[in-house]
Amino acid sequence: MERVYLFDTTLRDGEQSPGASMSVEQKCEVAMQLERLGVDVIEAGFPVSSPQQFEGCRLIAQRVKGVAIAALARAVEKDIDAAVESIGGAVHPRIHTFLATSPIHMEYKLRKKPDEVVEMAVRAVKYARSKVAEVEFSPEDGSRSELAFLCRIIEEVIRAGASIINVPDTVGYSIPAEFARFIRGILEGVPSMHKAVLSVHCHNDLGLAVANSIAAVEAGARQVEVTVNGIGERAGNAALEELVMAFSVRKDLLPFQTGVNTRQIWNTSRMLANTIGAPIPRNKPVVGENAFSHESGIHQDGVLKKRETYEIMTPEDVGRDASHIVLGRHSGLHGFRNRLAELGLKLEEDSLKRSYERFLAVADRKKEVYDDDLYVIVSDELGHGVETFTLDYFNIQSGNLSVPTATVRILVGEDRREEAATGDGPVDAIFNAIDRALGTSTKLLEYVVQAVTPGRQAIGDVTVAVQVDGRKFVGRGASTDILEASAKAYVNALNRWKALQTSMKGAQ
Ligand code: KIV
Ligand code: ZN
Repeated sequence: MERVYLFDTTLRDGEQSPGASMSVEQKCEVAMQLERLGVDVIEAGFPVSSPQQFEGCRLIAQRVKGVAIAALARAVEKDIDAAVESIGGAVHPRIHTFLATSPIHMEYKLRKKPDEVVEMAVRAVKYARSKVAEVEFSPEDGSRSELAFLCRIIEEVIRAGASIINVPDTVGYSIPAEFARFIRGILEGVPSMHKAVLSVHCHNDLGLAVANSIAAVEAGARQVEVTVNGIGERAGNAALEELVMAFSVRKDLLPFQTGVNTRQIWNTSRMLANTIGAPIPRNKPVVGENAFSHESGIHQDGVLKKRETYEIMTPEDVGRDASHIVLGRHSGLHGFRNRLAELGLKLEEDSLKRSYERFLAVADRKKEVYDDDLYVIVSDELGHGVETFTLDYFNIQSGNLSVPTATVRILVGEDRREEAATGDGPVDAIFNAIDRALGTSTKLLEYVVQAVTPGRQAIGDVTVAVQVDGRKFVGRGASTDILEASAKAYVNALNRWKALQTSMKGAQ
């Protein structure tokens, strides 16, 4: 078995996907879970891009000690300085610097000649190496670059001190056999390639990110850049869980090993989805709700007779245990803490206590609290780390013959703001009343309700995406009452908007 290193970019490329932004605390929680999952490198962010990004990288570097921590930087000193300052304190820091090398990017985006690009890349790598021991270089849009030029720049940056060369399929344009050929071309065309690890970073625009990554590994790449649930720019990046399970299920053809504990996959996926408020599609490979469900009679019959007739992996392999322990209102803090720990959810004491309060409120309304409910309860608590506005009270009057009217009370520090408004429906009325109370004006982009577990008393998990000041903010709220969940989700989105506003003012 050959070892393939996983570079997780959920917190950088993943967080760049629309609506996936996380607070600094949320990023830290996800990073700790990624460490438990067993990735080799966590790319914590792009420090120069905002004070929040910088702070997220700094805290992750401080708290997550068991894996390498990378930070992204363009090939300029200012970016590299910010990256070094933010993650320099990590046990194992890595600067990831990038510069475009395709003809179209060099001519239209950079407006630079190939020679100037080589010089700039070499200067950046040398500068980064003067600050940290491990430097990764990515020729952006690598897969659309000319092979000869790519080999030249890679040789130069390895000589300048880069020890990881990451070839991105930035726009998800490659086809597996073609990408494999390209990777072999690099391995053969760069004399010093044996001094560095060759990595790939594939986007999913044609749905081929995982296939291209596997093809690259077969061709000789030994690091793959991935994200949990495949989140990332546009159609996303190669999904960690799909790549890892492909290696695990098809050992016969893919004799590669990663450091991932596959039994942590389900938790990690749920935790991320709940944190960013992006429901996992039911048919998503490996982590979708239907990934292990057999609906057709013929399939059910086959699985009952012999599981392998229709199942190539088990739910247990990915940590989705059949033996759900159900908690209820009599479960104590101790039992609650233990169950969370078994699910891989380890919280700071304060967060744990607040989550327990939320759990009790849910258990009061819903007799049995399942694991999926716990993920939502915990991420609901974590999502409220940046709370300027708190929903204190709401009341709604609605019926098929009356105009829906909502009253809300929102706490803003010591201030209690109470307002009423009507709307086209009860949810619209609540959102209007909140806007009145806070003086906000938003455009609703998305509104999604999902039942977390089956049954009439299920927790409703609401995700809203709103546009404020030209930007998109996603909020989540969960409750057994979907109107309350909607109000919480809306207030959560406004809290994220407020947090960004505050951090931008702080940076000025
Ligand atoms: O897709 C891309 O090219 C990137 C680089 C910064 C590695 O994300
Ligand atoms: Zn990318």
